[in-house]
Amino acid sequence: MRTERPPGPRSSWLLGNTLEYDRDRVGFLRQAHAEHGDVFSYDRRTIFLGDPDLIHDLLARTNTDFDGDGSPFSDERDLAGAETSADRWMGARRVGWHRLSRSAVGGHVDRLRDLFSARFAGSDELELLPAMEQLLGGATADFCLGHSAAGVPELVAANTAALVPVGGTSYRLPSWLPTRRTRTFVDLRTELMDRLGEVVRTRHDELTTAASAEHQPRDLLDQLLGAAPEVSHEGAQRFVRGVLMAGYGVPAAAMTWIVAALIEQTELTARLRDEVDALDRDRPETADLALTTAFVRETLRRHPPTWLIGRHARHDTTLGSWQLKAGTEVVFSPYLLHRDERYWSDPQDFVIDRWLAGAPAPVRHTYIPFGAGPRVCVGAQLGMLQLTLITCWLLQRFDLTAVTPPREHFAGLLVPADFRVRLATR
Ligand code: HEM
Repeated sequence: MRTERPPGPRSSWLLGNTLEYDRDRVGFLRQAHAEHGDVFSYDRRTIFLGDPDLIHDLLARTNTDFDGDGSPFSDERDLAGAETSADRWMGARRVGWHRLSRSAVGGHVDRLRDLFSARFAGSDELELLPAMEQLLGGATADFCLGHSAAGVPELVAANTAALVPVGGTSYRLPSWLPTRRTRTFVDLRTELMDRLGEVVRTRHDELTTAASAEHQPRDLLDQLLGAAPEVSHEGAQRFVRGVLMAGYGVPAAAMTWIVAALIEQTELTARLRDEVDALDRDRPETADLALTTAFVRETLRRHPPTWLIGRHARHDTTLGSWQLKAGTEVVFSPYLLHRDERYWSDPQDFVIDRWLAGAPAPVRHTYIPFGAGPRVCVGAQLGMLQLTLITCWLLQRFDLTAVTPPREHFAGLLVPADFRVRLATR
């Protein structure tokens, strides 16, 4: 077992590699990976992985040997509480999983179509990312809370906006540090939690007074509150908050990258149009959308919004041949893995045929836009449904052109920044 630190770029004693990293995040990681290999030290307490089997091992051992990132303000001092909060989360997650499974998410389609039509009715030219955040944030809130969702998407949007300055820099801020941006974030988080607490209490009362013996859950919250053994109110509140936050910016960034690819890949888009124009305009979900699904998968390969994922070692442990101390942060990049020439042919090109029947499956553990292991994305089925249907509806209803092209922006998420689009009704 190797007890020394893995090799890595030279760093300053005080700031580590933060300044160089913040100048060009993905470029810095790509170069350090090329120079130092599949396991390198980013700084004294962070190591980076580029090997798919080690990444998979890390993800599979989340909740036992490693913790998820948790709060953006997390630091070593939070490690003690992480285990309990992970247990509480996993209890609610097991119940929520049923509602988020492939068979259950189909019920969401009609509401998604209504929200889509309302969002893009009369649209001409717009900045696409905020429009997609509004659509998908609204859809996720509706999925979680149904008739109780009023006002919640706006609170989620404000909470997400308060996170942007945090994702924009790599300096870590402990939550007790009373800076203005920490206070803003904490205040907004409290406001959202209070609102969700109110929704949970009201819904609980509704469910207990209704003749509910054979009551079918209408949304995620019904599912959580009707579960046996019961999910506590606090557990439901925290889980719904997690789903609302995760189902806002990530699917919106993914959807915006899809539109960028539709505009760029004119020949492929013509093939997709043939597929979707042949369908019943209002019921495309009943058809096999093979090309559209492949297009979505390829976009998630080239531009996985969750481009950087991290874990912390819960205790002293090992990973591959390396000995890690408790608290060590281990990070990897789905973006770099998805473009690694050792595992992908023509990784920089947009090739949907690699996802169609007959094509060889990707090398094991090299395609992880939704993560993997016990903390794999709980909304993956819902997310794929949303992305595929919205792609289909956009193609059926609009001609799309770019007014300003997207810029790859690597911060908390990988987002297409400054992307303005014209939608002309077909
Ligand atoms: C459509 C595109 C989506 C992508 C690419 C995506 C990606 C991811 C990834 C990579 C993770 C794992 C992060 C990690 O390991 O630290 C994750 C977690 C999660 N996602 Fe998604 N997601 C998507 C949509 C959604 C939607 C629509 C929802 C909710 C309805 C959702 C809810 C969640 C939740 C709650 C987690 C945390 C799971 C846990 O820690 O147990 N995601 N997502």
